[in-house]
Amino acid sequence: VVLTQDELKKIAAYKAVEYVESNMVIGLGTGSTAKHAVDRIAELLNQGKLHNIIGIPTSKKTYDQAVSLGIPLSDLNSHPVVDLSIDGADEVDPFLNLVKGRGGSLLREKMVESSSKKFVVIVDESKMVKHLGGSGLAMPVEVVPYGDLAVAKSLQALFEDSGCVAKRRTLDLDGKVPFVTDNGNHIVELFFKKDIGDLNTASDKILRIPGVVEHGMFLGLATTVIVAGELGVTVENK
Ligand code: A5P
Repeated sequence: VVLTQDELKKIAAYKAVEYVESNMVIGLGTGSTAKHAVDRIAELLNQGKLHNIIGIPTSKKTYDQAVSLGIPLSDLNSHPVVDLSIDGADEVDPFLNLVKGRGGSLLREKMVESSSKKFVVIVDESKMVKHLGGSGLAMPVEVVPYGDLAVAKSLQALFEDSGCVAKRRTLDLDGKVPFVTDNGNHIVELFFKKDIGDLNTASDKILRIPGVVEHGMFLGLATTVIVAGELGVTVENK
C-alpha cells in the first residue's frame, strides 16, 4: 500500500500525541501536519483519555481550530513555561535543526517552542535535507512592513556568496499585495543556490539587520523528531 503524504503526516502526528499526558501545557503547532495532532488531542480529551490539557496556539489559524474542537486554551503570558510543543517543519537536517514558517507562523511558533521543555517535530520523510536551505524552497524571514524591500536587499547582500535571491512574499502574481503575518508583519523569502555555511553565524547575521523580527531557522530547539515514511516511523532524539 502506498500511503499519501497526508497519511504519513497523520501517522507522525498521532505518534507525537503519545507524548502528551494529562495536566500538561501543550504548544499547538501550525500547518497541515500539526493540524492532525490538534485533532488527535481533542479526540483523546473527548474520549476522557486525557484530562486538564491547556493548549497554547502558535497562530490564529490553530487558535480557531482548537476553539472549534473545544480544547481549553491559554497564552504564553499566563504560561511562560510550556511542557511540550508539537509542530511540523519545512526542512529537518541531520542535527535536528529546522526551517519553519512557510505557513508564515514562525514568530509565534519560535516563541512558544523555545519556551517548551520538550519540542516534538512531526514530518513526513520528504522534509529531510542534508543542509538547511538545501531543498531549493524558501527560507522565511519575518520583517516589519516599514522598508521591507530595503531589508530584503540587505538580506540578499548578506548571502551574496550563497547565490541568495530575496523576495517579499505576496498574495498576488504581480507581487504588489504583501502577505501579512498574525503579528502584522511581512515575510521576506530567501532562496539559496549554495550552502549557507555555519547556521548560527547565518542566524546572527540575519537578526542583526534592523527591521528583521525573526527568521525561520530553528537551531537546537527540537528535542525529538518523528519522521513518517513508506517504511515506517523513526523517532530521533537530541
Ligand atoms: C507554519 O508557519 C510552519 O512553520 C509549519 O509548521 C511548517 O510549514 C510545516 O507545515 P506543514 O505541516 O503544512 O508542511
